[in-house]
Amino acid sequence: MILKNKLNITDQIELDKEEERISKLKAKKLYDLSDINKVKIGTFEGLSYIHKYLFEDIYDFAGKIRKVNIAKGNFLFAPLIYLEHSLKNIDNMPQNTFNEIIEKYVEMNVAHPFREGNGRATRIWLDLILKKNLKKVINWNFVAKEDYLPAMEKSVIEDVEIKYLLKKALTDEIDNRTIYMKGIDISYYYEGYSEYSIEKI
Ligand SMILES: Nc1ncnc2c1ncn2[C@@H]1O[C@H](COP(=O)(O)OP(=O)(O)O)[C@@H](O)[C@H]1O
Ligand SMILES: [Mg+2]
Repeated sequence: MILKNKLNITDQIELDKEEERISKLKAKKLYDLSDINKVKIGTFEGLSYIHKYLFEDIYDFAGKIRKVNIAKGNFLFAPLIYLEHSLKNIDNMPQNTFNEIIEKYVEMNVAHPFREGNGRATRIWLDLILKKNLKKVINWNFVAKEDYLPAMEKSVIEDVEIKYLLKKALTDEIDNRTIYMKGIDISYYYEGYSEYSIEKI
């Protein structure tokens, strides 16, 4: 079923394209208008701010906790009855070391708080934690899609692979705009959106 949207689009392919175009433009603004500095690092509130920022022109559910259970592959993300409790626990998880930060990221993926757009919003959220606490970010250009997605699938039972993969891709270039912008394009590519390049929108 196609998601109900504010654009009144009923064609899935058209919605995918418009979702990509509009939300990528917002991802660019998030950086260029420095709104990214308003994000409360490492909290659900911060993640919700990012999600709302990206998707508010497209979906009513932007920034809001989902109201349905969702699964991918054969993994059921946090059941609704535990979701709010789980998000409070994640807020309190430590984020001082690389391992702690990735463990927190993995837990946020297990929570999967939104109806759609979790992957793209949570990768921005992850980079902000790494930037603040380790003075590093991930250069997503060094994380291949065919490695990343299986590692995320496995992360719900074993996080060694995702830690290894992301650690290899860390960079000190935390204020490099090109790395951020390219990272958005790659993050969208992981999820099957590659119609537009962020710099050309
Ligand atoms: N089988 C799975 N088990 C655990 N996590 C998964 C699985 N499949 C995908 N994911 C994670 O979910 C993300 C996609 O979630 P989704 O809400 O669709 O975000 P987006 O709309 O940005 O693609 C992926 O980037 C990955 O991190
Ligand atoms: Mg998706």
